[in-house]
Amino acid sequence: MSIKKGLFIVIGLLAAAFVLAACAGPVGSVGPAGPAGPVGPTGPAGTNPSSADLTCTQCHNNTTLISSKAEAWATSLHGSGTAFLAEGTEIGCAGCHSGSGFLADLAGSLTPDKSVADPHPTQQDCRTCHKIHTTYTTTDFALTSTAAVAMYATSTTYDGGAGNLCANCHQARRVIPTPAADGTIAVTIRFGPHHGPQSDMILGVGGAGAVTGTPSPHYSTVKDTCVTCHMGGAGPDASHTFAPNVASCLSCHPDATDFNMKGAQTDLDAKITTLKADLTTAGLLDKNGVIVAGNFPEAQANALWNYLLVAVEDKSNGVHNMPYADALMDASIAVFTK
Ligand code: HEC
Ligand code: HEC
Ligand code: HEC
Ligand code: HEC
Ligand code: HEC
Ligand code: HEC
Repeated sequence: MSIKKGLFIVIGLLAAAFVLAACAGPVGSVGPAGPAGPVGPTGPAGTNPSSADLTCTQCHNNTTLISSKAEAWATSLHGSGTAFLAEGTEIGCAGCHSGSGFLADLAGSLTPDKSVADPHPTQQDCRTCHKIHTTYTTTDFALTSTAAVAMYATSTTYDGGAGNLCANCHQARRVIPTPAADGTIAVTIRFGPHHGPQSDMILGVGGAGAVTGTPSPHYSTVKDTCVTCHMGGAGPDASHTFAPNVASCLSCHPDATDFNMKGAQTDLDAKITTLKADLTTAGLLDKNGVIVAGNFPEAQANALWNYLLVAVEDKSNGVHNMPYADALMDASIAVFTK
């Protein structure tokens, strides 16, 4: 093979390599968009929703349906009390002290004393008692619970109609501790049933000592119990100040002008005054009426417990269960006159 011919082959190979290299060049740019497609078919004629189409207006409207209740509620301790702020974030307190804690408790079947702390506590507000914003219709004014209440401190059942809602929270959290071997009971500054043992009083339970209570005449005769005396009854006119009203007594006590039927509250008050003096003399209360901590004979501790239940925590001056309140005061006074 001549040098010239060999040179041609080398040049030819180089040229081929150049052409192959040119084949691996960058991809060209995308071509222009194609023409627009045909117009789609016309849809059915539309309408703007009117306020009447929104179930919200069953409640949010220009009536006083919400505002009248909200303004009355705001004056009540449910609406103005601040205990929910501290107590609602506490384990064992949130089930009654936070409205949202109460709902969590209802859903989880916890007892209030085992309720979990609520990081975002609310007052006892509309949502605590009504199923607000569930169906978004007026049926949401149904109560969150009207089931009979298993009273966990006194192992009884409260079944008083719509008042069952209230009994969930307004119940005692404790019964009196059992005496030590030496026959004394340790009294601390937190001695007594917790605030709000109204439903126990109505059932005739929760006192200390030998008195056997019976349910109040008001438990069996007053429909919806708490709701009738404190709200004027169930229904659209239910009063949201939660303050008892003499008008709600008149159907059974037609001559009533106050809560002191037949002077029964005056009689009870005299007994309370006697018992308080006895407890002070015996050293269970100081001169300011404050509990003195210490170990006291069982009978005296029982008397202090009953004083706290009837005179301090129930707050009805006997109305919730006058026969039981009277019997507890009589038995407690007898401890000091023996
Ligand atoms: C059963 C009656 C009822 C219906 C139906 C209802 N609401 Fe309410 N709504 C309430 C109550 C009660 C409150 C609390 C008012 C208060 O606290 O003063 C409230 C509060 C509100 C609030 C204030 C913020 C809040 O959550 O507290 C808004 C916003 C609201 N509702 C929107 C609506 C909308 C939107 C609808 C319909 C989809 C609706 N509501 C249906 C009763 C109702
Ligand atoms: C979720 C628990 C809960 C429910 C349910 C509840 N309450 Fe209350 N209630 C409370 C708490 C807690 C307070 C005290 C609030 C505070 O001090 O901040 C209170 C306060 C009150 C007071 C004021 C007491 C006072 O010392 O002046 C009345 C009266 C009352 N409730 C009645 C009712 C009635 C009647 C019902 C049922 C229709 C009801 N409550 C339902 C927890 C509840
Ligand atoms: C079974 C429900 C229930 C539980 C659980 C409960 N409370 Fe209460 N508490 C109430 C009710 C109801 C009242 C209001 C009673 C009344 O005014 O007649 C109240 C009132 C109080 C008050 C008086 C409020 C005030 O402003 O004067 C304090 C303080 C309090 N509770 C602390 C606690 C603490 C702390 C816990 C938890 C260790 C707790 N409570 C758990 C139902 C409960
Ligand atoms: C027969 C009517 C009647 C029934 C039923 C009734 N209450 Fe009362 N309650 C009263 C009256 C009356 C007072 C106030 C007595 C007084 O001031 O002399 C009162 C006082 C109270 C107080 C203290 C209010 C305050 O401002 O100090 C609370 C809390 C309470 N009741 C809750 C309840 C709960 C909860 C129920 C149901 C478990 C209930 N009551 C059932 C009539 C009733
Ligand atoms: C402590 C519980 C409680 C709270 C808090 C509460 N309610 Fe009620 N409410 C009741 C009870 C009990 C009734 C009467 C029950 C019935 O008629 O079934 C009632 C009745 C009503 C009714 C009449 C319903 C009907 O039957 O037509 C309206 C409206 C109403 N409440 C609005 C409110 C609003 C708004 C709030 C908040 C600002 C509120 N409630 C807070 C317990 C409560
Ligand atoms: C549905 C009927 C009914 C209603 C409503 C009612 N009571 Fe009674 N009450 C009774 C009965 C029954 C007794 C027991 C018999 C008697 O002493 O008259 C009683 C007894 C009492 C007693 C004890 C009287 C005594 O001599 O020992 C007081 C106090 C009392 N009621 C207060 C009230 C108050 C306050 C209200 C309203 C907030 C009220 N009652 C509403 C039926 C009712």
